[in-house]
Amino acid sequence: TPRVFSGIKPSGGLTLGNYLGAIKKFVQTQDSEMETIYCVVDLHAVTVWQDPADLTHATREVAAGYLASGLDPAKSILFNQSRVSGHAELGWLFNCVARVGWMNRMTQFKEKAGKNAEKQSLGLYAYPSLMAADILLYHATHVPVGEDQKQHVELTRDIASKFNHDFKAEGFFPLPEPVIEGPATRVMNLRDGTKKMSKSGESDMERINMTDDADKIAKKFRKARTDPDALPDNYEGLKDRPEARNLVDIYAALSDTTAEAVITEYAGAGWGQFKPALADLAVDKLAPISEEMARLMADPAEIDRTLAAGADRAREIAEPILSKTFDIMGFVRG
Ligand code: TYM
Repeated sequence: TPRVFSGIKPSGGLTLGNYLGAIKKFVQTQDSEMETIYCVVDLHAVTVWQDPADLTHATREVAAGYLASGLDPAKSILFNQSRVSGHAELGWLFNCVARVGWMNRMTQFKEKAGKNAEKQSLGLYAYPSLMAADILLYHATHVPVGEDQKQHVELTRDIASKFNHDFKAEGFFPLPEPVIEGPATRVMNLRDGTKKMSKSGESDMERINMTDDADKIAKKFRKARTDPDALPDNYEGLKDRPEARNLVDIYAALSDTTAEAVITEYAGAGWGQFKPALADLAVDKLAPISEEMARLMADPAEIDRTLAAGADRAREIAEPILSKTFDIMGFVRG
């Protein structure tokens, strides 16, 4: 049976990139036939230094972002990773399946580590193997993510296939599909359209945070970098205009349409017309979410209870799969 798994790291706040690239898709799949499991991947967050109080806050904030955006604990399993010990256990087993050479090809590690690879935590290097464990612990078949996670999902397939092959367990781990669809699979920085919008950029004006209020959202879109030209009359016309294309893509994603449709509607419009329309749309869609997040964050005990209940359900699915994995490998457990 098809099963969806995805997760978000509680390291810093949530951005519009996380919302459009991930959370919005989570909400859409929640009403499909598929079983849906969404995790706050706290074990991944600590691959880089996290102040303990910040980790606590960010974990609850990602959960609040899930709930405020419409994920429903009655329809989806929502939990934080560290409560289900199987993630760490299967992660270890996969460290022994994955090859060093595979990790060396991961572009995200290279980007994050830069010239300082030797100074990074061992966890940051091995992170994709833990991500494979997150997905395969539930035998998940579909993984909705932004473009930047594609390589990690492909690595997950490689690990699943090598495990199945090495232990003569054909078909035991499914080969999961990345689900990367729609106009906003890579939301770009509002000040530099060649860089990804991320939690960690130096200026707050580069990104929309899911906790930004209406005034901030409007101001950031008003001040977003653009070029002097009007909007073209077809999407091709945005090819070498990264900032312009990004704003059109964001508009399309927020209004559940295609970038082509947005271009048709705004062909020939100047930024004086498009930016205020985008700001209004974004405020319409995002301000209610940030308000609801603030309301939820006022009572962290309620969030914690939701995560604990979700973890109990996650554990029920994970335990037999983990146990079978140990058996296949020959561990003495009985
Ligand atoms: P993370 O926490 O960096 O990002 C969470 C999700 O948001 C997407 N995303 C974006 N999408 C579009 N445009 C952007 N600018 C943008 N920024 C972030 C990411 O692609 C991701 O889908 N390794 C993962 C977390 C993870 C995971 C997993 C995901 C751990 N285990 C298992 C799926 C399945 C990460 O660091 O995502």
